[in-house]
Amino acid sequence: MARRILAAGNWKMNKTPSEAAATIEAMKATCASDTVDVLLCVPAIDIPAAVAAAKGSNIQIGAENVYFKDSGAFTGEISADMLLDAGIKYVILGHSERREYFAETNETVNAKMLQCFAKGLIPIMCCGETLTQREQGVTMDFIRQQVKVGFLGLTGEQAKQAVIAYEPIWAIGTGKTATSDQAEEVCKGIRDLIRELYGDEVAEEIRILYGGSVKPSNAAELFAKEDIDGGLVGGASLKPDFGEIVNYRK
Ligand code: PGA
Repeated sequence: MARRILAAGNWKMNKTPSEAAATIEAMKATCASDTVDVLLCVPAIDIPAAVAAAKGSNIQIGAENVYFKDSGAFTGEISADMLLDAGIKYVILGHSERREYFAETNETVNAKMLQCFAKGLIPIMCCGETLTQREQGVTMDFIRQQVKVGFLGLTGEQAKQAVIAYEPIWAIGTGKTATSDQAEEVCKGIRDLIRELYGDEVAEEIRILYGGSVKPSNAAELFAKEDIDGGLVGGASLKPDFGEIVNYRK
């Protein structure tokens, strides 16, 4: 079974609700595709406007975070039920910015992974090494730990629906993209780990994305790699020409 390419945007803390609606309106034409799945993960407050704007198009709207409790006294957090009710299916978990600035750990990411599957959301779990770790030669050790702990307690049936985004921290927002060989090496390593944990069928079905300075000029080479099933795109997903990444084959 061929895995469908997923072009996922991560808007981070950018765009007001009205700006989000206007951008998506313009993206309906540029991001049209029958062959590539298109997703924009947007700030929580932009979700209703974004879902309304994307209606009737192939653009799906996702979230950038979710809390692991059902409801209650957790000021400022967003629950899975809230996202589902707003029309969300995908949610980014454990982005390196959340790990660095908001104290996310492999354990909280795991709790959120379990909550997603308990509720019916699909997580896009991020992992990735720092430049120091790469230079120390511990990239794969570090990523194996992030993925192993993140996936603790997930069944094979759940794991195969999850998405993993490999995002080397040194490539995020820096313009310094990993080479397609570097990206493929780690994405293959992640798929091999999933094979160890869950077997061939899950390893062949799970989608593994590359993220970190993906742009129109490098998307085709990255997405052509055997174990790279699309991209998690920050800066280059904020403008209608995100469509050049979606339509990377043209
Ligand atoms: P970038 O961000 O494409 O701007 O490097 C990617 C990400 O952080 O998801």
